[in-house]
Amino acid sequence: MCGIIGYIGYKEAYPFLVNGLKKLEYRGYDSSGIAVFCENKYSICKTKGSVSELEKKIFLSNTNMKGTVGIGHTRWATHGIPDDINAHPHVSNSNELIMIHNGIIENYHAIKIILLENGFTFKSETDTEVLVNLIEYIKKENKFSLEKAVRISLNEIIGAYSIAIIDKYNPETIIVAKLGSPIALGINEKEFFISSDPIPFINYTKNVLYLKDGEMAIIKKNKKLDLRKIIDNHKLNPIIEKLKINLKEIEKGKYKYFMLKEIYEQPKSILNTLRGRLLIQNKKKEIIISIDGIDSNKNVFINAKCITIIACGSSWHASLIGEYLLEKFTRIPVEVEYASEFRYRNPIIDKKDIIIVISQSGETADTLSALKLAKEKGAFVFGICNVVGSSIARNVNAGVYTHAGPEIGVASTKSFTAQITVLILLALKIGKYKSVIDKTLYKNLCRELICIPKKIYNTLKIDKHIKKISHIYYKVNNFLYLGRGINFPVALEGSLKLKEISYIHAEGYPAAEMKHGPIALVDEKTPIVIIAIKDRYYEKIIANIQEIKARKGKIIAIINEEDIQIRMLVDHVIKIPKISEELSPLITIIPLQLLAYQIADICGKNVDKPRNLAKSVTVE
Ligand code: F6R
Repeated sequence: MCGIIGYIGYKEAYPFLVNGLKKLEYRGYDSSGIAVFCENKYSICKTKGSVSELEKKIFLSNTNMKGTVGIGHTRWATHGIPDDINAHPHVSNSNELIMIHNGIIENYHAIKIILLENGFTFKSETDTEVLVNLIEYIKKENKFSLEKAVRISLNEIIGAYSIAIIDKYNPETIIVAKLGSPIALGINEKEFFISSDPIPFINYTKNVLYLKDGEMAIIKKNKKLDLRKIIDNHKLNPIIEKLKINLKEIEKGKYKYFMLKEIYEQPKSILNTLRGRLLIQNKKKEIIISIDGIDSNKNVFINAKCITIIACGSSWHASLIGEYLLEKFTRIPVEVEYASEFRYRNPIIDKKDIIIVISQSGETADTLSALKLAKEKGAFVFGICNVVGSSIARNVNAGVYTHAGPEIGVASTKSFTAQITVLILLALKIGKYKSVIDKTLYKNLCRELICIPKKIYNTLKIDKHIKKISHIYYKVNNFLYLGRGINFPVALEGSLKLKEISYIHAEGYPAAEMKHGPIALVDEKTPIVIIAIKDRYYEKIIANIQEIKARKGKIIAIINEEDIQIRMLVDHVIKIPKISEELSPLITIIPLQLLAYQIADICGKNVDKPRNLAKSVTVE
């Protein structure tokens, strides 16, 4: 996690650094800091809290932030509490080297002991301060250049990093390096921008170089960039790409929060996920699903003995929906695993197994490590990612982008429905390859898929009604979410949305499981959100509703528009359009996203930046 930023060029660095950090706050926002360099001097300001707090502190303290070179950081604490001292940049003992870091140095403790024995002292509890002093130690002991000292030091450490470091006596050079955590360089003729992702610099340049793992760049004012391999100093040819991000996609526009904007964007984002992939062939009126990553690996999918889907958080919930779909349409056994669990239990992987990794950011450390382990064991790894060019996307054997567009709100919304859309396409496509899916069902679902954006658009109209319900329940301490079959993972996702942005405790359960324990929580104060659409579980769900009502629980039921039976039994209904069971998660999740949003907003929470969370979890 953490966001890093840097600038070297001919303009004042500070405005870019501070505005860039604001755009990176989705990566962490518990403390922040900036250092700006001018000749052989630098000014540094760090604070606990957001980048706006930092801006205020710089203004009130009248810190001189003049200079055309600088670095900045927004933190998600790993080593040490969020405070001014642990905030980055970190400065070496001699005050000469100044560094920012995203990632974790796993062997920092052993290095710290050696440095302490050699007379170094530490102000903070961070692993970053250890690394900057290791670089200083190696530099001074051996009279190495900064470049060489950085390279030697990085070869000594275990862990993940993206770093930017400056020597105050040579502030015309910034050295950046990457292993595990992302780093993008924006390149203009006379200036360089450094950032954890390209969004902060898209207003300035469309030329981007994504550093790869094990690479370092020596960036000098007015000079060409020097790209090297960290391991052996081998010179590399920088491959500069053109950015294709639309500015509107990263602005809040008329919405109070990015999360609300992203919920409302779902008709469009799903259309983008489907674009060019669901094709109607006019002559035969046949519907074709075309996905390069699957088409070019047809035999791998046809011959797969087993599929394991690996992900974290909301992407894990989408994976559970994928399990229902893939098993149903392809008849291939599917397992779903938390990435963090998968990688530590020596999993049994056959060469004919397919591993699917799902990640919005494409940077989640646990998912990335699980992917690498699966590849080492010889599995074919297929990725479903949203962020183009992300580490996971680059490391898989084949994959598909969800094309949901940038998701800035910390809570996943449009990326979740885009992942489900891809999983539906994938399951239908493999089922067709294997001729195990009923032809009419295939055709009907493809046709219905085309209508999903319109159905979501119509579903979003219930927002006002949901706001009214939210006003009744925003003060409760506990919520239960129930669903069955393919809508059980939706119940899990709904409960995760509520707890992460409103901090109200919520549990998701399969509705029938309630009587094995959770029913003990039901009383007149407990709202129970239950997905009760007309599918094959309908009658059973009605029985569950009766059981809750017998214990005076308050029920908010997600029902189909034409349903009249459940309406009579529950306290509140939220109506959604009729939809096939297999596609229903794309619609049933919409009211749950809105409910979580409205409750959190009424509670006055910062919806886009919930406490303790960060958008991209690049630490294990
Ligand atoms: C919840 C949420 C997280 C992420 C999880 C995985 O709203 O956003 O649970 O789903 O951290 O992130 P990705 O999909 O980027 O791997």
